[in-house]
Amino acid sequence: MESTPAAVSAPELTKVPTHIAIIMDGNGRWARQRGLPRLAGHRAGTENLRRIIRACVEFNIKYLTIYAFSTENWGRPEEEVNGLMAILEEVIDKELDELHREGVRLQHIGRLERLNPTLVEKVKYAVELTRDNDRLILNIAWNYGGRDEIVCAIRKMIEDGIRPEEVTDELVSRYLFTAGIPDPDLIIRTSGEMRISNFLIWQAAYAEWYVTPTLWPDFDREELLKALVDYSRRERRFGRLPTDECCSEV
Ligand code: IPE
Ligand code: IPE
Ligand code: MG
Repeated sequence: MESTPAAVSAPELTKVPTHIAIIMDGNGRWARQRGLPRLAGHRAGTENLRRIIRACVEFNIKYLTIYAFSTENWGRPEEEVNGLMAILEEVIDKELDELHREGVRLQHIGRLERLNPTLVEKVKYAVELTRDNDRLILNIAWNYGGRDEIVCAIRKMIEDGIRPEEVTDELVSRYLFTAGIPDPDLIIRTSGEMRISNFLIWQAAYAEWYVTPTLWPDFDREELLKALVDYSRRERRFGRLPTDECCSEV
């Protein structure tokens, strides 16, 4: 009988990232492979998100940021954009109470302008309801773009009369949508594309990357665990030397 590889178990993790960010890509391809409309892929992707949120809680991840709708995604057909907006509303309606009970804090990064008023109210309500939770901080990047975020930050700094000499790395970070959130340690992109697509371009400066060909709706707990095991074997150097070379003669 052919033996199947044993499932990786959580105890193998020697180092767990504090903050994971995910570019949840591949819903459209997942649907196409099954002869389904693209929105069916987005629905399957949303179902998967529930599993991944739970797995993050299980693995003691503190921050999870998910890229769900980019500033560039407005360029898709109106039917798809409206469908995605409707899915977010449904998710808030159906999942909010349970997420709240589980201690998940919801935060939004991106701009609320341009979203319909009902959705804006729902997002604000979800953020307010869960503000004291701290089991997992879930940042939903919706109508988010990294360049847009930096433009907003520069405008706000100018409005606040910040002087040139006051501008530092740390100050810029405080003006971003992600103020108060540590930079991501690990960025996962599903479905194989090797690009950043305007996601966390400032915050990703020293993130570790993990790209998998698996399409987002199929990226389950085991796949997340594989990414975490891979991460736990990486050595992060931040421009310095490996730890075993740090004290030797130059
Ligand atoms: C990611 O899946 C979800 C969003 C961008 C909203 P895609 O819709 O980009 O799926 P592909 O890349 O077409 O397969
Ligand atoms: C990135 O995926 C945006 C989200 C996952 C929300 P896209 O599918 O929009 O990115 P590109 O167009 O392939 O770069
Ligand atoms: Mg895509």
